[in-house]
Amino acid sequence: MSSPLSPAAIDAMRARTPGVRSTTHFNHAGASLPSAATLEAIQAHLLREASMGPMEAGAAAREQTERARTLAARLLNAQPVEIALTTGNSAGWGAAFAALGPWLAGQRILVARHEWGGNLATMRLLAQRAGASIETIPSDASGRVDPRALEAMLDDRVRLIALTWLPANGGLINPAAAIGQIARRHGIAYFIDAAQAVGQLPIDVVEVGCDVLAGAGRKALRGPRGTGLLYVRRDFLPRLMPAFVDTHSAPLDAEGDPILRDDAARFESSEASLALHCGLANALEEALDIGIDNIRAQIDRTAQTLREQLAALPGVSVLDQGVERSGLVSFNVAGLDAMSVRHTLAAQGIAIGSNGVAYTPFDMTSRGLTQIARASVSYLTTGAEVDKLLAGIRTLAR
Ligand SMILES: Cc1ncc(COP(=O)(O)O)c(C=O)c1O
Repeated sequence: MSSPLSPAAIDAMRARTPGVRSTTHFNHAGASLPSAATLEAIQAHLLREASMGPMEAGAAAREQTERARTLAARLLNAQPVEIALTTGNSAGWGAAFAALGPWLAGQRILVARHEWGGNLATMRLLAQRAGASIETIPSDASGRVDPRALEAMLDDRVRLIALTWLPANGGLINPAAAIGQIARRHGIAYFIDAAQAVGQLPIDVVEVGCDVLAGAGRKALRGPRGTGLLYVRRDFLPRLMPAFVDTHSAPLDAEGDPILRDDAARFESSEASLALHCGLANALEEALDIGIDNIRAQIDRTAQTLREQLAALPGVSVLDQGVERSGLVSFNVAGLDAMSVRHTLAAQGIAIGSNGVAYTPFDMTSRGLTQIARASVSYLTTGAEVDKLLAGIRTLAR
């Protein structure tokens, strides 16, 4: 049973989060605030490296650094061999996309209109330039990608379906599992960008039916910057040839032939920040201890309150679409551009985000939007912080 967290539990977690004392943070979708224990896990490994020598410290702490992989697998209902630790969402998504190999003229990629701009740029450079097409799947009246419309677009030239589960420009949640059922039924590769979903929504990769899922460590999971997760379904892995390898991902055998790893770590390099992996492991452990269902329930409650109260402010329009909503709340203030809303609030110690068109070009363009202000909440967010944000925006909207 999931339930929102008690005020006492939130207070206790805030007491172990140094950042809440110095900022009113509504940019958890950009990057959240790590706990003191996550910082300590990073620092402890850096100290081990400094005192033992980094290579020796890496060997000594191997069990600890590998915990991130095991915990990430648990978070996603995957196997540890299906997880690669990456340096960020795009790094994982892009490595998997590049590993699909060459594209041919006439092949088709179908994307929801919420696709992350970085993924679109990768698809354009690697596939569209070769003559493949990138086509947008229509959305339903609520703005979510429409599974029936997807089904009507399919033919044997469709090589990939790509979905950004939670778009970066608002609170919409796409029906990832319904798209997965169609992809499975037709045997089409299915990639999910879960940058905003990991650590915020319960994720079961088996139920969702994806072949590849990328996530970021620094957002809802509250891991360190420079970390990410890449899930690759075990049976899909043989179809992915990394664009490059090294002594870790494809060691040479006695004859000098590269032996490509048969797990998702074929997307890892021998060189990585093990200190950050220690931090990520701690963040994953904290999230799993709280329970992702409870995190989801708490974020939903806070985001809904914020949405309702923002919508009641004169001059403010809340722009979130969809039916089920995430912790990202998008809005505009009449007569002000989103960047100046962000800067004015920053001067009051309140951090929000603001996006232009480039992060979610199809969605912004189809809705006639050129910018949005974005306040994103965490389970750490309190009612007092929501009140402070609303007071700041109320003054601006006058
Ligand atoms: C939906 C989505 N995808 C991808 C990214 C990019 O993640 P990264 O900067 O870790 O590559 C973001 C970042 O905000 C995002 O919101």
